[in-house]
Amino acid sequence: MVKIAPSILSADFMKLGEEIRSIENAGADIIHLDVMDGHFVPNTTFGMPIIGQIAKIATKPMDAHLMVTNPHDYFQPLAEAGVTYVSFHPETVFHVHREVRLIQELGMKAGLALNPGKPVQDIFPILPELDFVLLMSVNPGYGGQKFLPLVYDKIKMLKDEMTRIGAEVEIEIDGGVTHTNIGSLAEAGVTMFVAGSYIFQSDHYEKQIERLRCSVN
Ligand code: DX5
Ligand code: ZN
Repeated sequence: MVKIAPSILSADFMKLGEEIRSIENAGADIIHLDVMDGHFVPNTTFGMPIIGQIAKIATKPMDAHLMVTNPHDYFQPLAEAGVTYVSFHPETVFHVHREVRLIQELGMKAGLALNPGKPVQDIFPILPELDFVLLMSVNPGYGGQKFLPLVYDKIKMLKDEMTRIGAEVEIEIDGGVTHTNIGSLAEAGVTMFVAGSYIFQSDHYEKQIERLRCSVN
């Protein structure tokens, strides 16, 4: 099953409420929230005050991708806002396993997000505990970057390891997703697809989401 998660990073922030409603009406499955702190990544977006506002109108599950150096501080507020998926980058915490458990104890699905240069083997010990893995197919910080094909090898290694240990963990891909690569990514085993510029840089969100779905066999 393919889940399309538009990233509101590329939305028009001056009319965020309308944008959220538009992508939901256009068929989005999940709302991807890119939280950036200007430390872990060279860009700043939004934090809890805005997510709290979004939560009031969102009817689809929210997916918070934490590109911050203090992800722990967000977990409780995200749970209170009703967020479903939370991912953080493992290099931002000392105790990855403990933080994953905390997210789950708060009733949310826990994921680890891996930068393009991070070996996927780093998370093998904790793989059975995870609900999902977010593989970055661009360097985090900005929307509209070019897709990095190195992610295919990582998907394969992840799938092989899951088979070996008998674990079922969802794979989310984030960065440069378009109708040209979504088919091969789905075939490789990805089920959650973040798409920012591909959707929001068009004036027809529904057509873009439909085009993504139609490109998956
Ligand atoms: C990048 C973000 C992505 C980004 C994707 O740091 O994590 O979610 O918004 O945007 P596109 O689809 O334009 O690459
Ligand atoms: Zn993201």
